[in-house]
Amino acid sequence: MLVNGKKTNLRDIRPTDFDKILKWQKNKLLTYFVCNKLPMSIKECEIRYSEAFKLLNQIFGIEDKNGKFIGEIEIDHIKWKDKQAELFLYIGEEELWGKGYGFDALKTFLDYIFNVRNFKYIYLRVYEHNARAIKCYEKCGFKKRGILKFNKDKIDSDNLILMDIKPTNLKK
Ligand SMILES: CC(C)(COP(=O)(O)OP(=O)(O)OC[C@H]1O[C@@H](n2cnc3c(N)ncnc32)[C@H](O)[C@@H]1OP(=O)(O)O)[C@@H](O)C(=O)NCCC(=O)NCCS
Repeated sequence: MLVNGKKTNLRDIRPTDFDKILKWQKNKLLTYFVCNKLPMSIKECEIRYSEAFKLLNQIFGIEDKNGKFIGEIEIDHIKWKDKQAELFLYIGEEELWGKGYGFDALKTFLDYIFNVRNFKYIYLRVYEHNARAIKCYEKCGFKKRGILKFNKDKIDSDNLILMDIKPTNLKK
């Protein structure tokens, strides 16, 4: 399975990727942004990237054009009948943030999910202060739809913004 973008390719995750994922998982800022979703052991990797798990979630590894594995993009909480799902995305190497890989992978993934797999609705949750991620989502056509407010007295809060996109909103 391979989907080609301009700066990235999307492909299946392989057991040889596990060491990198476990290394990325030690980055506190990354794991905070992705709500501690990354696996913490080889056993957890084997479960998360197993064939059985793939029946419930569509997970792709992101690689750059040199074939270097740099992140993950997936949809989960899939409602197959309604073709709805929740998006999850990260670039694992912090020094690669802000270089256009996330946007390209997201755009490529949404093109595939909407136009090849015929999904009708994708939503996501993102921390209110994760400006880079929000910008990346808006550039693809996601719209802010609501906010889940936690610790509302804190300035740097953990509020979550809810965003969504339909195929007609995907920017060219
Ligand atoms: C969120 C993430 C996937 C975005 O991918 P990326 O490759 O870093 O982002 P891009 O380079 O594609 O940038 C997207 C846009 O954000 C802008 N941007 C970059 N850094 C920014 C910052 N600190 N603040 C605001 N905007 C920023 C870019 O300029 C670009 O917009 P432009 O093309 O109009 O200039 C990536 O940063 C990441 O994995 N972060 C950690 C994990 C995470 O937050 N995942 C999302 C959880 S909801």
